[in-house]
Amino acid sequence: MTQPPPTRVLLDCDPGIDDALAILFACGHPGLDLAEVTTVSGNVDLGKVTANALGVLELAGRPDVPVVPGSARPLLRPVADARDVHGESGLGAASLPPARTEPVAGHAVDFLIEQIGAAPGEITLVATGPLTNIALAVRREPRLAGWVKDFVIMGGSAGRGNTTPAAEFNIWADPEAAAIVFSAGWQVTMVGLDVTLQARATPAVQERMRPLGRLAADLLLPGLLGYRGEAPAEGGPAVHDVLALALVAEPGLFGCQPARVEVETAGQWTAGMTVTDFAAPAGTRNALVAMSIDVPAFWDTVLSSYRRIPAAAG
Ligand code: RIB
Ligand code: CA
Repeated sequence: MTQPPPTRVLLDCDPGIDDALAILFACGHPGLDLAEVTTVSGNVDLGKVTANALGVLELAGRPDVPVVPGSARPLLRPVADARDVHGESGLGAASLPPARTEPVAGHAVDFLIEQIGAAPGEITLVATGPLTNIALAVRREPRLAGWVKDFVIMGGSAGRGNTTPAAEFNIWADPEAAAIVFSAGWQVTMVGLDVTLQARATPAVQERMRPLGRLAADLLLPGLLGYRGEAPAEGGPAVHDVLALALVAEPGLFGCQPARVEVETAGQWTAGMTVTDFAAPAGTRNALVAMSIDVPAFWDTVLSSYRRIPAAAG
């Protein structure tokens, strides 16, 4: 049976340890074509997330993928990073050599519009950081919502948050951007904490990574070692962003439910909450919310994707 062509992905991200593992997954999975990367301030500042994206792509053997920097701060709120989780560099205890490539000139917002507008219906847009670039792009060019093949985010939660009791980091960091994105008229596939907290890089998972050459030694293991997110007692670091790309590559691993998602922007204690209504009338639903995942099959596809990266050999 002939395989369908790989899905072309434009990834907007804030590397970030799990963003880095997501980039590696996208480079290794045969069903994905990671064609473009844009960066946004989030886990660490714009300069660092951009340098990290370039460095991870070089380690993955993909220095050809263009990296275009975007917003250095949220739309309205002050910059709030996650160095306490991802470390000063943004890659935990991993230390990659500076990339030999440079970011592409220009701004991510213009790049997103140009690339997606030039290939309507062909590009799956995936966002694994705060939604600042995406909000600016869809406000500048509302037709973007109809031009994407699909739009998938790592962000939000139908239940509790991880940055506050109510809000998950990517939404909490820029709630106004998220509110614009969820009301832009497209279907947002929301890969939130409901599923990402189920996929832990346990010690057994990390042992499966250990034989993966420089990929493991230079990034996977030191990155996970330096990750200060979820408590180790809960099994190990959650690789949140990898699940967003895994849903694009292998949607059958996930169970998703349609819902109406509204983003709280006014609450003193609830700003960034993704208020998820699974009982909303069909015509008002703006999201497909991932609520279940086949965890063993997820890790099998992640490891097999990593093994396909040249740096995993020897
Ligand atoms: O809440 C998890 C999300 O916040 C992930 O995207 C992680 O990289 C951080 O950006
Ligand atoms: Ca991220």
